[in-house]
Amino acid sequence: MVLFIILVVLALSLVLTKLYVVLTHSICKSNVCLLGKTALVTGGNAGIGYEIVLNLASRGCRVIIADKEHDPNLGEKIFRETNSTNVVCKHVDLASFKSIRAFAKEIVDSEEKLNILVNNAGIGSSATVTEDGLGLLKKSSGRIIFTSSLLSHLNNLTLDNLRFGTDVSTYSNSKLCDIIAADMFSHKLKEFNVTSNSYHPWIVATTIFKTSRGQIKTLSMLSFWILVLEYMSLLVGRAYDKKFCEAIWKASEELVKLEPHEKI
Ligand SMILES: NC(=O)c1ccc[n+]([C@@H]2O[C@H](COP(=O)([O-])OP(=O)(O)OC[C@H]3O[C@@H](n4cnc5c(N)ncnc54)[C@H](OP(=O)(O)O)[C@@H]3O)[C@@H](O)[C@H]2O)c1
Ligand SMILES: *[C@@H]1O[C@H](CO)[C@@H](O)[C@H](O)[C@H]1NC(C)=O
Ligand SMILES: *[C@@H]1O[C@H](CO)[C@@H](O)[C@H](O)[C@H]1NC(C)=O
Ligand SMILES: *[C@@H]1O[C@H](CO)[C@@H](O)[C@H](O)[C@H]1NC(C)=O
Repeated sequence: MVLFIILVVLALSLVLTKLYVVLTHSICKSNVCLLGKTALVTGGNAGIGYEIVLNLASRGCRVIIADKEHDPNLGEKIFRETNSTNVVCKHVDLASFKSIRAFAKEIVDSEEKLNILVNNAGIGSSATVTEDGLGLLKKSSGRIIFTSSLLSHLNNLTLDNLRFGTDVSTYSNSKLCDIIAADMFSHKLKEFNVTSNSYHPWIVATTIFKTSRGQIKTLSMLSFWILVLEYMSLLVGRAYDKKFCEAIWKASEELVKLEPHEKI
């Protein structure tokens, strides 16, 4: 009997989850022409970021890919898939504030505008934009997009563990920070008509699972079931804590003023 109930609950949760995915997730079918627009995608050489780059480039957008590793064949590969030659690759190590600042300066000096900023890159450090870098977005009434994660559900972010979470919670905390950052940017840049949003890509088979010591995989499954439970118990409310977001923002501002050689 107990087994039967468990099986029914499992089956029901799978059906409900599938329904949720079908109703709320879809691939981007937009064919809005992006000729004349410029986008910057961090972590654009692999995984989700790469797919975003292909989509933007195929719609005529100039795309700047910002990554740590340089793949000399990337331009060629993108050309084969999109026919676009308007893609440039630049180096940035988002784990180094020195590198981020140098990169932001290079972009501000070389680009006339920035319409779309996709803060998508990797793991361990949240993407950061310096004040300098925001000028271009303001000028272009741009859009900012943060790639957060389902795993943000498992955060236990506090002001004290903002810089280093415990092993298990660091990733989840950084993903909650993505949401908070998107939200705060959205408020702060409203008057410049800059929109800022975050999204979670569900679970996508990319190299991130190979590079993250199995932890993300375990957490993904755990988070998946937590989410299922959330829906089942109708607990999917969003508790928005403005004070907490502002406190995290302020603490982050202090954090990014660390010595440039300091890495997190
Ligand atoms: N896959 C999923 O199921 C899933 C679920 C939820 C959220 N996400 C989020 O989606 C985003 C993309 O993940 P993915 O799955 O596409 O991962 P991925 O295939 O491993 O790609 C990660 C990208 O981030 C870049 N990157 C990592 N560390 C960097 C650094 N220090 N400086 C500059 N670039 C760096 C990598 O560039 P290099 O190759 O140059 O290092 C790579 O292009 C991440 O923010 C991740 O948290 C993924
Ligand atoms: C690229 O251009 C060629 C020649 O015009 C065309 O045959 C091909 O379908 C295009 N490929 C893509 C991915 O748009
Ligand atoms: C966060 O979670 C971890 C493990 O899940 C736990 O050890 C830690 O005490 C929690 N709280 C803080 C503030 O890190
Ligand atoms: C923002 O958009 C509104 C409505 O389109 C426009 O009136 C306003 O001038 C814009 N502001 C800036 C700073 O671009």
